[in-house]
Amino acid sequence: MARSIIRALLVVVAVAMAAVVGTARGASYTVGAPEGSWDTRTNLTRWASTIIFQAGDQLVFKGHSHVVIEAGSKAEYDACSGSNPVAVFHAGVDTVPLPIAGVTRYFICNVTGHCQAGMKLAVTVHDAAAPSPAMAPSSSAAAAAGVESPVIGLALAAVVALLS
Ligand SMILES: *[C@@H]1O[C@H](CO)[C@@H](O)[C@H](O)[C@H]1NC(C)=O
Repeated sequence: MARSIIRALLVVVAVAMAAVVGTARGASYTVGAPEGSWDTRTNLTRWASTIIFQAGDQLVFKGHSHVVIEAGSKAEYDACSGSNPVAVFHAGVDTVPLPIAGVTRYFICNVTGHCQAGMKLAVTVHDAAAPSPAMAPSSSAAAAAGVESPVIGLALAAVVALLS
C-alpha cells in the first residue's frame, strides 16, 4: 500500500522533471514568425539573424503547401539549386529538428522562382552548452541543471523499477 503510493509519487516527480527538462531544452521556431512566414515576402535572412539557434531546437514551416528542399551545400543554396538535396520536406511535414551543433542548414523552396525571390533560409546551429557572453550566468546554471536532471531522472526510474 505505502509502496504503491511512493511509487506513484515518484512517477509523478519523474514525469514533471521530464517536462521541465523538455521545455528547457529545444525551442521551436516558426519560420518567419511573428511578422512573416515561409513565403517570398518575408526577409528570412533577417529573420534568422535575430535568433541564436541551438542544438535541440526545431524549425516549423507552418502551413507550407510547397516542398521545402534542404540543399546539400552553401553553393547550391546560393544558386537556389536543389539538385543534391539532403532532405525533402513535403507539404504537411513541417517540423525540422536541428539536433547537431556546428553546422549550417540550408532550406529552399522548390517552386520555380520562389527561392530566387528570397524564399530561402540558412540556419547555423550553435552548441547549446556555449552561451553568449551576456547570458553566461543563467545559461551555465541551466546547462548544469541540464546535466544533472537526466541523472536524477534515471535514479528515480531505477527506484521506481526496484519498487515495482
Ligand atoms: C534581408 O535582410 C538582410 C539583413 O538585414 C539584408 O542584408 C538584405 O538586403 C535583405 N534582403 C532584402 C531582399 O531586402
